[in-house]
Amino acid sequence: MAGATQIKAPDGWSSRSAFVLAAIGAAVGLGNVWRFPTIAGQNGGGAFVLFYFGCVLLIGLPLVLSEIMIGRAGRKDAVGSVQAIAKKSGVSPRWASFAWIQITAAFLILSFYSVVAGWVIYYAGVMGADLVGAIADGTPFVGALQGESVEAVQGRMTDLFANVPLLLGMHLIFMGLTYAIVAQGVGDGIEKAALYLMPAFFVLLVGITLYGATVGNLDATFAFLFTPDFSRLTPVAMNEALGQALFSMSLGSAALMTYGAYVDKGTKLAPTAGMIAIADTAVALLAGLMIFPIVFAVGLDPAAGPTLVFQSLPVAFQQMPGGSLIGFLFFILIFFAALTSSISLLEGPTSWAVNELGWSRPVGAAIIAGAAFLVGIACLLSFNYWSEVRLFSFWPIFEDAIIFDVVDGFTGKVMLPLAAFLVAIFVGWRADRRLVQHETGLDGPLFALWRFLVAWLCPIAVGLILLFGLFPSLLV
Ligand code: PHE
Repeated sequence: MAGATQIKAPDGWSSRSAFVLAAIGAAVGLGNVWRFPTIAGQNGGGAFVLFYFGCVLLIGLPLVLSEIMIGRAGRKDAVGSVQAIAKKSGVSPRWASFAWIQITAAFLILSFYSVVAGWVIYYAGVMGADLVGAIADGTPFVGALQGESVEAVQGRMTDLFANVPLLLGMHLIFMGLTYAIVAQGVGDGIEKAALYLMPAFFVLLVGITLYGATVGNLDATFAFLFTPDFSRLTPVAMNEALGQALFSMSLGSAALMTYGAYVDKGTKLAPTAGMIAIADTAVALLAGLMIFPIVFAVGLDPAAGPTLVFQSLPVAFQQMPGGSLIGFLFFILIFFAALTSSISLLEGPTSWAVNELGWSRPVGAAIIAGAAFLVGIACLLSFNYWSEVRLFSFWPIFEDAIIFDVVDGFTGKVMLPLAAFLVAIFVGWRADRRLVQHETGLDGPLFALWRFLVAWLCPIAVGLILLFGLFPSLLV
């Protein structure tokens, strides 16, 4: 009976660095390597990027600390943690509604995230097969997909989008992997995944960025990313930048609150929050510096949109030395980043189901991943069978949006900013000040500064951006 008397180690991070790695894993994902370059490209680069940095520093960073703090103070799932703090602070437990928004947002993001990650798997497979072929021919350092015309390379995405069984299969594989890791638990699943995948990701990122800088067009990239044209900074662009900053740092979607609950009391949260924000932003920037030199080198359009990474880059890889190998590594890199993020998207809702509904972890994770898979199918079909469906045609900014863009846009532009706004009000105004201060570990001017940002700047800035971004006609 020795096993029965053994005390089971609590399921949490084994160390502070494990937490930091997992949280960076949650933050760094498709948002950095796919969404950031896409949106920055569409919004004209410079001014958008500058505004984005402002959002990260003044809104994102203070909120990262706020959300981790809520989790660590409450030590439950997102909803339970907010309720616990509300109770200790003597305010209504209904504040937990913003945790609800967050869990719902995580669920919806997971659904389309897995679809995009499925494309990544497909392209990793294509590039991998190409590399194997090149090696077999004794020419491992040629450009990718040598036998194909440019049209054929680009046509791969169109073909993929028309191939529903293939899309479904890739979506299923990715969701299945995410499930398999989350079902293992925090220490054995999530932490281990981050421990292996994140270092590999960073090595690949630095390697490919150096490659891009050597063979690509760095001048055009710098001009594009760092020359601000403020006429492009419309309210809609600002809302997009804010939404992207929140999305990229995994704010407003239960991930950080949930991961925070597994942090031990001795860990200092403020430096940890700083590390997450810095790492996430650095990766977004590096991803820009990795992708755009390649895009400009072969004269592609930086504003190509969501297909930039999937349709444009393979063409670039075809024309560049070593493109076969680099192309393969590039999609592996995105895959690693996506996986450590998707597990954090599944963990928030799962932890809620385990704590609040009393489900076992494997069952809870399976039901939620299964449901997200189904919603993902609707997103996936919006590229083929349902390409004409406009769910939100009544709302001017979503008028022309396919289902995929509605789910992506509604979470990013509406739910995340709304959740962030409510977190700021709750932490800045409603939660017990001493509890908050104690938990953040900040004091003196630093605490005052953080509190000012959370209580004043975040709600006002997020509120205004939300209002004018969603209803641009209010401005004219
Ligand atoms: N931050 C992740 C990315 O940039 C996505 C994500 C959003 C993960 C919200 C968790 C919660 O890809």
